[in-house]
Parts: sequence; structure tokens; C-alpha cells
Amino acid sequence: MPRLSIWLIRAALIYLLLGFTVGGLLLWHKGLPLNPALWRLLPAHMEFLLMGWIVHLVMGVAYWILPRFQTKRPLSALVWLSFCLLNGGIWLISISTFVAFAPTIQLVGRIAEVGAIMAFAVHAWPRIKPTSL
Ligand code: HEM
Repeated sequence: MPRLSIWLIRAALIYLLLGFTVGGLLLWHKGLPLNPALWRLLPAHMEFLLMGWIVHLVMGVAYWILPRFQTKRPLSALVWLSFCLLNGGIWLISISTFVAFAPTIQLVGRIAEVGAIMAFAVHAWPRIKPTSL
């Protein structure tokens, strides 16, 4: 497995753990109220599981298995960029409920996430081809 896939899939597993932990806390708080401020963690729960777990896992597996050119995976720098943008976006949106200027932070976070998806798509596009070519 390529190093970048290892990073992406390990990150996915860490986000799965974080997302379930925050989800468990929220569920606990619904039954036995702890602190109303815990609801500020709901965006983090959604980001960790939807973008952190699912998107990292998809990117990690796709980078690994899509057809290569000879033995090379082209445009890998774009996938590193995508990894950085995705994580930046996830954390900006997750912390946005704790800081001032939340809408601006969320907008920047979403732009980073869209940039991450686009960077990954540009890398993947030429690799979507029959394996014999
Ligand atoms: C891959 C797994 C999961 C995904 C994608 C996911 C996603 C979401 C999303 C999108 C919401 C917001 C729903 C809304 O606002 O209507 C939510 C809420 C919530 N999730 Fe999860 N979740 C997952 C697993 C879990 C787990 C394992 C737990 C508990 C251990 C959990 C506990 C909660 C709680 C307590 C809420 C708040 C519900 C409410 O608004 O009353 N989630 N989740």
C-alpha cells in the first residue's frame, strides 16, 4: 500500500474513533444532561464522521487501487494538497462553534473542503481508464 494511502486510511480510522466518541457524549447528554454547551460539538460529530471518516477512507482506497501509469501514480502532490485542505476544512468547521466569526470560519472551511475534493478529482481523472492502456 502506498504511503499516502496509509496516511489517509489511518486518518479515517482516527476520525471514526473521534466521531463515535463525540456522538457517544452527545447521546449520553440527551439521556443524562451534562452541559448544554456540549451541543456545540454537533458540527464536529458530523464533520468527523462524514468528511473525516468517509471521505478520507474513499480517497485512501481510490489512491491505492485506481489504475497507474506504468508503476507510477501521477499527480500525487495534488493528493497531499487534498489531504491538507480536507483536514484544515474539517477542523475549521469543527471549532467554528467555539470562536467568534463562526460563519466566516465555516465558509473558509467549506471552501477548503471543496478545494480538497477538486484537487483529488483532478488527480484521479486521468487514472480512470482501462487497466490495459
Ligand atoms: C458513521 C456514523 C455516523 C454518522 C455519519 C453520523 C452523522 C450524524 C449527523 C449528520 C447528525 C446530525 C443529524 C441532524 O442534525 O438531524 C448526527 C447526530 C447525532 N449523532 Fe451521529 N452519526 C454517526 C454515528 C453516531 C454514533 C455511533 C453515535 C452515538 C454513539 C451518534 C450520536 C449522535 C447524536 C446523539 C446526535 C444528535 C441527535 C439529535 O439531534 O438529537 N452518531 N449524527
